[in-house]
Amino acid sequence: MKQKRTYSASETEALGYELGLLLHDEAKVVILLDGELGSGKTTFTKGLARALGIQDVVNSPTFTIMKKYKSKDRLKTLYHLDLYRLDGAGDDFDLEEYIDGTGMIVVEWPFQAEALLPKDYLMVTIKKIEDNIREFTMECVGIPCQRAVRYI
Ligand SMILES: Nc1ncnc2c1ncn2[C@@H]1O[C@H](COP(=O)(O)OP(=O)(O)OP(=O)(O)O)[C@@H](O)[C@H]1O
Ligand SMILES: [Mg+2]
Repeated sequence: MKQKRTYSASETEALGYELGLLLHDEAKVVILLDGELGSGKTTFTKGLARALGIQDVVNSPTFTIMKKYKSKDRLKTLYHLDLYRLDGAGDDFDLEEYIDGTGMIVVEWPFQAEALLPKDYLMVTIKKIEDNIREFTMECVGIPCQRAVRYI
């Protein structure tokens, strides 16, 4: 388990970037982002995306549950899910239905779906401390993220 604080949105983006670099070579990794509205989940995801070499602008998927991004060299894939709108209808949500290959899978509002938790995942809990201060708690369950959490 690792805890980090950030003091601005750009520091949060940079933290996502650092984590993304550490996870860059993992074939498949699931990152669950838990935190209240405006805590910085999407900001953090922008940093993850940049570390994978994704140049498109990453925004919260508004009308779809999932948005898929490819790196410029096409070698890396980011699946960005936002389950906010599932709103209780997520009892039979199946993450695997949305994932058609390997890559980094980032889920905002993971607890909107009852049985989401895969076998291996990195849980990132974001707490608003003050207006611009966020506390990140990173906890790895399983194999793929152990090294990243150790070195971040
Ligand atoms: N330390 C910080 N880290 C991240 N965001 C910060 C920080 N300080 C201030 N902010 C602001 O908080 C907001 C975070 O927005 P963001 O969209 O990343 O949150 P979110 O958790 O994805 O929200 P939602 O639940 O609506 O999807 C931005 O407006 C950002 O500028
Ligand atoms: Mg968001």
